[in-house]
Amino acid sequence: MQSFAGRLNESQQLKDEYMPLTFSKATNGSLPLYAIQAEQLDNWIKAQPKEVSAWLKANAFAANIGEVILVPNSKGMPQMAVVGLGTPATRSRGRFELAAARAKLPAQTFHLENAQDVDGLDVQLLGWLLAGYSFDRYRKPATPMADLICPETVDATRLETLAAGEKLTRDLINTPAADMGPDALEAATQSLAEMFGASIHVTKGDDLLIDNFPMIHAVGRAAEQTPRLLDMRWGDTGPKLTLVGKGVCFDTGGLNLKPGGSMALMKKDMGGAATVLGLAQMVMSLKLPIQLRVLIPAVENAVSGNAFRPGDILTSRKGLTVEINNTDAEGRLVLADALALAEEDAPDQIISMATLTGAARVAVGPDLAPFYTNSDTLAAALTGAADRVADPVWRMPFWDPYEKMIEPGIADLDNAPAGGFAGSITAALFLRRFVDMDAYTHFDIYGWNPTAAPARPKGAVGMGARALLEALPEVLEF
Ligand code: BES
Ligand code: MN
Ligand code: ZN
Repeated sequence: MQSFAGRLNESQQLKDEYMPLTFSKATNGSLPLYAIQAEQLDNWIKAQPKEVSAWLKANAFAANIGEVILVPNSKGMPQMAVVGLGTPATRSRGRFELAAARAKLPAQTFHLENAQDVDGLDVQLLGWLLAGYSFDRYRKPATPMADLICPETVDATRLETLAAGEKLTRDLINTPAADMGPDALEAATQSLAEMFGASIHVTKGDDLLIDNFPMIHAVGRAAEQTPRLLDMRWGDTGPKLTLVGKGVCFDTGGLNLKPGGSMALMKKDMGGAATVLGLAQMVMSLKLPIQLRVLIPAVENAVSGNAFRPGDILTSRKGLTVEINNTDAEGRLVLADALALAEEDAPDQIISMATLTGAARVAVGPDLAPFYTNSDTLAAALTGAADRVADPVWRMPFWDPYEKMIEPGIADLDNAPAGGFAGSITAALFLRRFVDMDAYTHFDIYGWNPTAAPARPKGAVGMGARALLEALPEVLEF
């Protein structure tokens, strides 16, 4: 399946077809691959033919994470590959151990010979697929990697669907702002809608004022590409889920200009939008029995004579007034109008995802997706699901006593409380003011992996989408 739905030229589309994140469909000629957990190693070696166990011992194979060994036959050709998955303790410090091996294997086709021995087999196989991701839009394609035939006991299509959703998220985030402005983000959403027969409605430019999205307009009006609200709907029966994603295609900070170091990565400020689009692709591919709506305020927070200013007071769609104390706290403004619209439809659950605050990154670092919800049952379902699919999340508090921090003097709300205490919490409380219903969950994600890890190269990364997908049946009761 072609997952990147942006404005690709022909050769880039071809590349996508040649390098999809899929399993091998080969039926013969594959080499056996054994994936060994260190705690299984002794028993496993004992059960092998003498020349195999001798070779592994001679090479001091210890089944460490990423350890790969090819075992030759009597002609000196590989007869099998053995890779290490580490110990329970070393596995607890990371994820996707099988992915660590993939890059080191020769570019041949393998089949997993001992699938029944591998803990968390689905996650390991998803990691294998994700290890095949590389962002090649602006360079020669990466060299081919080892291929794997999916074990028959595993739902290969589902894993390929998850990988395709994650690839979409990564491609959208990795694409620089010059090629992923509001126009391109709209085009990507249009393509996704087309691919799955979803409907889409776009409100652009001055129509944002006419249709009452004043804060989306205010944040985005200084940019060359007009601000807009993307509204995609899919499915006509079942519980209603509305996803809202922050689509700030570049965040200069506005008139409260970010210093260079802080601006460097701000092409990823549409990471919330990219993540909800990846999740939407998974939901639609898997034909989940729900009604899905995706709302994306797509803007660029730019600097110009008509930019919104510190001290301005904006009246939001919901009617609440907001004093702008920092034009760099723009995400909560565009999300607020989108959330107000989301609620008018009375869905069963609203979930927002946004690269909303630097404070969230300081609090939990780049690996964990912090989320806020009023519901203990949803939090438990999400945390359990996250664990099962190796997409870690961490609950944060909607801490009522901090409500006063977002109330300034001369407006209903302050977009950037002085002092910055609990910056991620106050941002979440701000958003909650625009959603009166209780069934609201908010993710303050980072969307970026600063150091390469198995299945997660340095660069864009989805956070929370797979955990949500896994939790949805419990959360929405379908
Ligand atoms: N997009 C940023 C948040 C961000 C920064 C996410 C770095 C990930 C990494 C957001 O628009 C922002 O600038 N937030 C400010 C808010 C502050 C001015 C209240 C922040 O976090 O510093
Ligand atoms: Mn900002
Ligand atoms: Zn931002």
